[in-house]
Amino acid sequence: MEERAVAVMNVLADTRHAFDGVARDYDRSNAQNRTICAMRERLWQTVDRFVTPGSSLLDLGCGPGCDVERFAARGYRVTGVDWSPAMVQEARHRVRQAGTNADVRHVGIHELDRLAPTVFDAAYSDLGPLNCVTDLSRAATLIGDRLRPGGLLIASVIGRVCPWEIALYSARRQWARARVRYSPAMTAVPLEGRTVWTRYYTPESFERAFLDAGFHRVSLRALGLFVPPPYMDAFAGRHPALVDTLQRLDDRVGDWPGMRSCGDHFLIVMRKS
Ligand SMILES: C[S@@+](CC[C@H](N)C(=O)[O-])C[C@H]1O[C@@H](n2cnc3c(N)ncnc32)[C@H](O)[C@@H]1O
Repeated sequence: MEERAVAVMNVLADTRHAFDGVARDYDRSNAQNRTICAMRERLWQTVDRFVTPGSSLLDLGCGPGCDVERFAARGYRVTGVDWSPAMVQEARHRVRQAGTNADVRHVGIHELDRLAPTVFDAAYSDLGPLNCVTDLSRAATLIGDRLRPGGLLIASVIGRVCPWEIALYSARRQWARARVRYSPAMTAVPLEGRTVWTRYYTPESFERAFLDAGFHRVSLRALGLFVPPPYMDAFAGRHPALVDTLQRLDDRVGDWPGMRSCGDHFLIVMRKS
């Protein structure tokens, strides 16, 4: 097999192994993290704003199914896909327990053609699954093929320029850590002793990968611009009033030019022409 194909398979296998390892506790720990909850709520609001209940939704990298359950309960017809079998199992369990009607499939974003010929009114991807794909342009084509003309992609994506992270690690003189998001290559990110391969994007570089697949941008805002990143949850817990103020600031100026290119994540809406 060609060397590059083997490298891609290894990257995908590592990432799957890492998410399999945390699947059981993933949802509980995320539900306790106020920044993650705030980011998730903003994706929910965006889907609610752009897509009417009753529409078909594809959740790209659904993890343990928190969003699948939420949208299914609101009357959307949801299909969740994830590359980690353990996450898929958690999501199916969750949907069953909630008594909601949704389909969860063990399908990677890189193999979305397995869902053909089904097409969806919209797709969303919450909290970074698209950072884990090895070829974003190819993923954009595959996602575009699964959307009807005029269909939307709503994605929260881990960004490159995170002011808190740069300040924090520069203050500690950990220069390599401060620069980690600037690598154009996939980066090995540790997760409970295993490795998630991650590529960080500016909104512009992310959007470029989707242009050839016929998408254009509808809206863009920063998430976690003034609010510290999710891994600083202990700080957020000690300073709840400050973080509430920073959250309001994020919501107020997060879509301003300049501001919207920064942040721990960005939330982008794109339409397939
Ligand atoms: C940070 S978690 C987010 C999970 C979920 N969207 C949420 O908001 O809780 C990233 C998820 O993306 C999944 N993932 C990683 N690479 C993937 C790929 N190539 N295809 C589909 N899912 C993938 C992981 O298994 C994991 O469940």
